[in-house]
Amino acid sequence: MTDVLIAGAGLIGASIAWRLSQAGIRVTMCDAGSFGGECSSAGAGMLSPGGEFDKPSVWIDLAVEGMRMYPAFVDELARESGVAIDFQLTGCHHFVEPDVARRRAEFQASKGIRVELTDRGLFYHDDGFVDPTDMLRALRRVSRAELRENCALTEIEASDHRAVVIAAGAWSNRLRVKYRGTPVALPEVKPVKGHLAGFQMQPGSLGPMLRRGHSYVLQRSNGFLIAGATEEDAGFERAVSESTCAEIQRHAAELFPALEKATPCRRWIGFRPFSPDGPHIRQVEGTNVWLAYGHFRNGILLAPLTSHRVAREIAR
Ligand code: GLY
Repeated sequence: MTDVLIAGAGLIGASIAWRLSQAGIRVTMCDAGSFGGECSSAGAGMLSPGGEFDKPSVWIDLAVEGMRMYPAFVDELARESGVAIDFQLTGCHHFVEPDVARRRAEFQASKGIRVELTDRGLFYHDDGFVDPTDMLRALRRVSRAELRENCALTEIEASDHRAVVIAAGAWSNRLRVKYRGTPVALPEVKPVKGHLAGFQMQPGSLGPMLRRGHSYVLQRSNGFLIAGATEEDAGFERAVSESTCAEIQRHAAELFPALEKATPCRRWIGFRPFSPDGPHIRQVEGTNVWLAYGHFRNGILLAPLTSHRVAREIAR
């Protein structure tokens, strides 16, 4: 019997594994595919409470708290792993109509977001991005978990472990989990496919992130520029559509005209885990099962917060 079994070796599962191992707890992490092989490595890495949330909900509170934790999390992870992590608080220009901008700014400022009205909408001073592949590389070094890849867990008896964490993204509720022989109901989750396109450009050509609706562009330090992203209800359909990426590029070029004539060097998709009442970051009552999924568009943003909360509760 291992101490803690984590189902899902993405950014969230690996962050929890790291925090648990810091508390001296032995962890096994199982993934049906490869370490970080799905949504975690597909994400652009946009960290954007301002761009994402403009209404009262649990999301904005989590996002603001999660964003505050980010610099220290990245700093500690980079130091402990020795892996350089591309993390930049570039700020984000959000292009919206003036009346929408005023309403958004008023509400977001009341939530602690540093937001400014501009002639084209809003500027969020503290938004930024992280390269999730750097984070994954670092977490792989420091998590000290026994990692089992290509290990599809179909049935889990949670009482065989000190705790079980469900962190399998859009696949989470396919697992059959029991506690002392009784099935544990896992909240619904489904994939929302996103297409993205990447362009190799001169480093430093973009500056702050740019966004209109769900169209956005950000540029990593090495010049790689990412334009995103669609939201598609297409199940786990993995096809990458050139015409969808062309559409993303067209919208992105309205934000950043240098993209008009650029040729993507990469096109890809990911499956965001959407849960109608997510995100789920909690213990299932009366069991030793923790949920850490349903983060939808903000799994990368919420990984530090989720890992902190779940690991703290398990280690208690
Ligand atoms: N976080 C941005 C997206 O899901 O496209």
